[in-house]
Amino acid sequence: MIRCGPVAGIPDPSQPLIALRNVSKSFGDVHVLRELNLDVPSGGTTVILGPSGAGKSVTLKLIIGLLQPDAGSVMALGERIDQLQEQQLVDIRRRIGFLFQQGALFDSMSVLENIAFPLREHSDMDAGARRAAALDVLHLLGIESCIDRLPGELSGGQRKRVALARAIVQRPECILYDEPTTGLDPIRSDVVAHLLNQLQERLGGTSLVVTHDIPLAFKVADHMVLLRDGKAWLSGSPDIFQNSTDPVVRNFLDGTASAEDLLAMESEHAA
Ligand SMILES: Nc1ncnc2c1ncn2[C@@H]1O[C@H](COP(=O)(O)OP(=O)(O)OP(=O)(O)O)[C@@H](O)[C@H]1O
Ligand SMILES: [Mg+2]
Repeated sequence: MIRCGPVAGIPDPSQPLIALRNVSKSFGDVHVLRELNLDVPSGGTTVILGPSGAGKSVTLKLIIGLLQPDAGSVMALGERIDQLQEQQLVDIRRRIGFLFQQGALFDSMSVLENIAFPLREHSDMDAGARRAAALDVLHLLGIESCIDRLPGELSGGQRKRVALARAIVQRPECILYDEPTTGLDPIRSDVVAHLLNQLQERLGGTSLVVTHDIPLAFKVADHMVLLRDGKAWLSGSPDIFQNSTDPVVRNFLDGTASAEDLLAMESEHAA
């Protein structure tokens, strides 16, 4: 069995692994997050839901220090990370795996080189050990035969798995997934749900999944958060979401647009 062992400074399991407090973030006139409070419990899978543009990817980027909040604080793995310098963020980024929304593979590098990249940057493993580590995660994801191919020679589903392999190769304590099923058909999307649950079971740790994919959310979540209007509109167990009678939550889960959403879309088109 493969384990991802916590490194020094083991976070206290009774505390949230990630905690955003009164976080605000704007880009010019666009106020994306407005005093957002968000807790990601230690262990299990938390899913962040929310309409397009709600600030889900921005939230993930704040958690690994790719963006800084305008106000508020971001705690991750027992450390306040929003005031750290790039150099001090290296350790946090090694302990938190990130599956980017766009996959972001290096097209001119083989699958092996893509997966071994974080190890080359952040570990003293030699080439043989890097290949073995890459094979290990590829095996876990069932695509070891792709190791010497270029990303351009892979299907969409295989590319997602390679990006996932790269996100977990350093055995992070926490993995952030940004829209893991975007661009995949429903069957593939079901495979991803199965894969996320399998990884959670085998690697342990904490998963944070951002998605629009409601069936995926209910297949993987232990805890859910709906982001809306820059805040955590609702946060709780899947049962709390399933049984919610709040029209905003129902509209989102049932895929029906409210009059307000349609108006917002129309003004976006007009802009
Ligand atoms: N670097 C940036 N510069 C300017 N605006 C940005 C930047 N990053 C995000 N935004 C804006 O912040 C808002 C939230 O973006 P974000 O990517 O977090 O949305 P999202 O909830 O992930 O949406 P989607 O579901 O479509 O991926 C959007 O209006 C976006 O245009
Ligand atoms: Mg996004």
